[in-house]
Amino acid sequence: MPTDSNTQIRLASRPSGWVEAENFQVTEEAIGKPADGEVLVRNIFMSVDPYMRGRMNDVKSYIPPFQVGEVLQAGVVGQVVESRFDGIAEGDFVMGMLGWENYSVSDGRLLRKIPAGPVPLSYHLGILGMPGMTAYVGLIKIAEAKAGDNVFVTAASGAVGSVVGQLAKIHGCRVAGSAGSDEKVASLTEEFGYDVAFNYKTSASLADSVREACPEGVDVLFENVGGEILEAVLWNMRDYGRIALCGMIADYNLEEPQPGPRGMMLIVGRRLRLQGFIVTDHPEACEEYVRKAIAWIQEGKLTYRESISEGVENAPRAFIDLLKGRNTGKQIVQLSDAS
Ligand SMILES: NC(=O)c1ccc[n+]([C@@H]2O[C@H](COP(=O)([O-])OP(=O)(O)OC[C@H]3O[C@@H](n4cnc5c(N)ncnc54)[C@H](OP(=O)(O)O)[C@@H]3O)[C@@H](O)[C@H]2O)c1
Repeated sequence: MPTDSNTQIRLASRPSGWVEAENFQVTEEAIGKPADGEVLVRNIFMSVDPYMRGRMNDVKSYIPPFQVGEVLQAGVVGQVVESRFDGIAEGDFVMGMLGWENYSVSDGRLLRKIPAGPVPLSYHLGILGMPGMTAYVGLIKIAEAKAGDNVFVTAASGAVGSVVGQLAKIHGCRVAGSAGSDEKVASLTEEFGYDVAFNYKTSASLADSVREACPEGVDVLFENVGGEILEAVLWNMRDYGRIALCGMIADYNLEEPQPGPRGMMLIVGRRLRLQGFIVTDHPEACEEYVRKAIAWIQEGKLTYRESISEGVENAPRAFIDLLKGRNTGKQIVQLSDAS
């Protein structure tokens, strides 16, 4: 928890394959002073997300790579300690892309004020933040899911997947999903509204498991994983099915991209539509989602689970564990007290 100095996590080296603790460096610095137009924030919650693995590689992508030696960045919710920016005052709660650190100095224009509201602060990184928005954009805007559709979701118990299942039910779909442990599978049907789910790690045949979960076939695939499970669902797609390609986490720690999936001719024969998307390209849909999600949470239609680690020095472990599938729901790191 914070003291007078600022504990920070920097990228020490670029990982090859799986991320290791030695890829991170813990440093201490004096707490920064805001200049004109800047704000000093005491960071309370930070998000760790699968996309950060891609930013550790030195490759051109939709978001620039992290630099070796620099403080890593994350979505952060915090409280303003000192403000030299009009419109943001000491004591306000804000969110933005800040550092893996206890205190950040930010350009005030890059911060968004969080209104006092009925939901916990950390929800702005999860169900009301990027993962919830991603679930809505992918399912409703990209895959155009509608009542009566059979929806299948991979990495279904994660931050995005656990919301996709509930949104599918709210929109009148039947929804099935896969996850990596029996405990996660139980949470899908007991907490997150899934009609049926299976453990992909203990499945003898992924294609058979998808067929048993969706005997009528799959109209909409919300794809978070890629690789073998994507291939297994392809075999079970119905004519004119839609696939929202959200992520390919099975690939993120591979040194060489894997070939496949096989069965690509199915895309032709069954007239499938596959579309990748990046949530930040859809600001209007994100705003629409947040308005609806607050109401759904208050009505008890949308629930959420978080895995919370304590202390910035444990952020690297939380991130490594996320990539190993040790989280259920949104993985958060708490950096200081919420009040
Ligand atoms: N397109 C966008 O704009 C956008 C935005 C946000 C997130 N995403 C993507 O959405 C996906 C889910 O993100 P999230 O934040 O919700 O993460 P998450 O699902 O909370 O955490 C990642 C989960 O992925 C599963 N996983 C990890 N390695 C795997 C592997 N090799 N094979 C299969 N499953 C594996 C694990 O669950 P199991 O134990 O069930 O395997 C793990 O818990 C990621 O692919 C992410 O990159 C995309």
